[in-house]
Amino acid sequence: MNNNVRPDTMERITTKELADKFIAEQVESVRAQVGDNKVLLALSGGVDSSVVAALLIKAIGKQLVCVHVNHGLMRKGESEQVIEVFGKELDANLIYIDATDRFLDLLKDVAEPEKKRKIIGGEFIKVFDEEAAKLEGIKFLAQGTIYPDILESDGVKAHHNVGGLPEDMEMELVEPVKLLYKDEVRVVGSALGLPDSMVYRQPFPGPGLGVRCLGAITRDRLAALREADAILREEFDKCGLAGKVWQYFIAVPDFKSVGVRDDKRYEGWPAIIRAVNTTDAMTATIEEIPYDVLHKITARITAEVEGINRVLLDLTPKPIGTIECE
Ligand code: XMP
Repeated sequence: MNNNVRPDTMERITTKELADKFIAEQVESVRAQVGDNKVLLALSGGVDSSVVAALLIKAIGKQLVCVHVNHGLMRKGESEQVIEVFGKELDANLIYIDATDRFLDLLKDVAEPEKKRKIIGGEFIKVFDEEAAKLEGIKFLAQGTIYPDILESDGVKAHHNVGGLPEDMEMELVEPVKLLYKDEVRVVGSALGLPDSMVYRQPFPGPGLGVRCLGAITRDRLAALREADAILREEFDKCGLAGKVWQYFIAVPDFKSVGVRDDKRYEGWPAIIRAVNTTDAMTATIEEIPYDVLHKITARITAEVEGINRVLLDLTPKPIGTIECE
């Protein structure tokens, strides 16, 4: 039997009861697989790796070593949430690496989108590799592979996760959610007690804000992007759009225009709002954001974010645009 194929008889996990049953089975099977060995996990804070972490903590506790690499391109509060939830609440064996300077130094003056992606992906593997080399006796590598990753790995869609790890790592894989669809992973995550803000997160690309800070990334423009994005998310939460829109974010391009603030000339970057709906990310339509919400977001971003003096709305569907704006 190919254990990468979901059996037809496998029931879709839609309730807490079914999730609890799945968790109990996986706890047993992980324990049987790893014995008293240690397991390493790259914990990005995304839905899949977070659910795997919570499941493995339940199964093997401190035998799990989680490594969270902050590449400096996370959204506001994300690394802090990983530390709070896993380091403190779940008392995980968590290694936190703030590699912001490494990434931003390497990305300095690099404007070409693919080159930026390659640098971020390559450096991620390097940092993770260095950490793994410092640890002794690790025989297993846990991954948040989910069923669509297996279905799509046949070349239909290039797998472009930054978390792709070095192939020469000689470790056996532990992939407890590999037969689950995303909605099931979320139900399991909730049953494991993870907060909704982690379990129902919108998709976020592995290279993070790096693909939304257009052109060559600078620290000041990245900081402006992070703040503006946090305001957009807050306002979408408040007006109920957060639960309705598939993906929404800010992109900040690398040019300035003249504005006026406090009766003085104020040059700043524009913040571009993008909010799209899709089912499979292959095509996407634009969400119609009510004008009062747009005005509120604009007022807050221009008043609260240093360096931003305009707010623009991207109305481009996919195709012709991509979902990301890079
Ligand atoms: P595009 O921009 O290609 O994006 O229309 C389609 C979906 O994929 C997400 N995306 C990524 N996800 N690693 C990821 O895990 C990546 O490198 C990456 N790049 C894009 C994007 O956010 C959208 O949901």
